Amino acid sequence: MQRILKTAAAVTGFVVLVSSSALAQDAENGNQLFQAKGCWTCHGTMGQGGRGPKIAPGPLAFEAFAAYVRQPALEMPPFREPILSDAELQDIHAYLLSIPQPPDPADTIVGQ
Ligand code: HEC
Repeated sequence: MQRILKTAAAVTGFVVLVSSSALAQDAENGNQLFQAKGCWTCHGTMGQGGRGPKIAPGPLAFEAFAAYVRQPALEMPPFREPILSDAELQDIHAYLLSIPQPPDPADTIVGQ
C-alpha cells in the first residue's frame, strides 16, 4: 500500500513538473508568435489594446478565442490555417493567459 502511494506521489510530481514547464514554454513561444504574426499591431505587444480591443489580461476562454481569430465578426482580418496553426493559436492563448493582472490601485499606499 505504501509503495503504491509513493509511486502515485512520484507520478503526480512528475506530471506537475512536466506540464508546468510545457506551459512556460508555450507562453514564451506564444509571445514570439503574437509579435511575429502581427497581433501586436492592433492589440498592443501585451494585448493591452490599441486600434483593436484589449485582449489581456484575462483573455476569452480558448474555444471562444480560437473561434473569433478564425472567423472575426467585424474589422479584424481572419487568421486561418496554414497562416496560423491550432498549436500556434494555443501558444498565443497561453501567452495571453500568462500576462499578469496589474496591481489594484486600491492596494497602493500613496505618500509613503
Ligand atoms: C488589423 C488589426 C488586427 C489584427 C492584426 C488582429 N486583430 Fe484581433 N481584433 C481587431 C479588432 C478591430 C477587433 C474588434 C472586433 C472586430 O473588429 O473584429 C479584434 C478582436 C479580437 C478578439 C476578440 C476580442 C473580444 O474580447 O471579443 C480576439 C480574441 C482577437 N482579436 C485576437 C487576435 C489575435 C490572436 C491576433 C493575431 C493572430 C489578432 N487579433 C490580430 C483587430 C486586429
